[in-house]
Amino acid sequence: SIYSISAVILAYLFGSIPTAVWLGQAFYGVDVREYGSGNAGATNTFRVLGKKAGIAVMTIDIAKGYTATKLAYFIGLSVTGPQHSSQFINYELALGVTAVMGHLFPIFAGFRGGKGVATLFGMILAVNPSAAMLCVLVFVVVLLATNYVSLSSICAGFTFPLSVVFVLQSSVKSEVLYGMCVCVLILITHQKNLERLLKGKESKVYLFKKQIT
Ligand code: G3P
Repeated sequence: SIYSISAVILAYLFGSIPTAVWLGQAFYGVDVREYGSGNAGATNTFRVLGKKAGIAVMTIDIAKGYTATKLAYFIGLSVTGPQHSSQFINYELALGVTAVMGHLFPIFAGFRGGKGVATLFGMILAVNPSAAMLCVLVFVVVLLATNYVSLSSICAGFTFPLSVVFVLQSSVKSEVLYGMCVCVLILITHQKNLERLLKGKESKVYLFKKQIT
């Protein structure tokens, strides 16, 4: 329907908002893609422009994924009614992943975006807040233990389907399926990080110390 098509397009456009690039250019006169890891994400913004900018980018990128996912209400209204919850979660996940695609390939920034971690988190927060909290927990523990954001992101990504199956015992099949897609997606976007991690050359991020750049 027209509702579904509009929701998908809107989700992609939301995801496409290149927060890191625009914020860096507007307030610091810097395109973060030219520094650090070259990634247009919250981590690299934190690395290049500092804590305040990094937290702002993270918050907005999470909101993009969350809002896009919640657009499912529009499809739900037109197709089945929001009471059909197992069908509904399919719309949510499809829209969330569409927003992530926008974040990876943003139409507003020459299709060179970020790795989609914050936007994926926004989607997880919208579909399953308990799983999202477990992802945060794993992310923070791995980050404090290793100071590698990329490794923390990968571990947090795997936490989503695992927590859905083993901890929360939810049997929503599509959630598990999408969770596995999330893992594959994170591994793909973090290929360079994985290579650097294996070589011991990944840059560390210290939450509570001054950045060494
Ligand atoms: O937010 C993405 C993170 O997992 C890695 O970012 O800049 O270190 O490649 P970065």
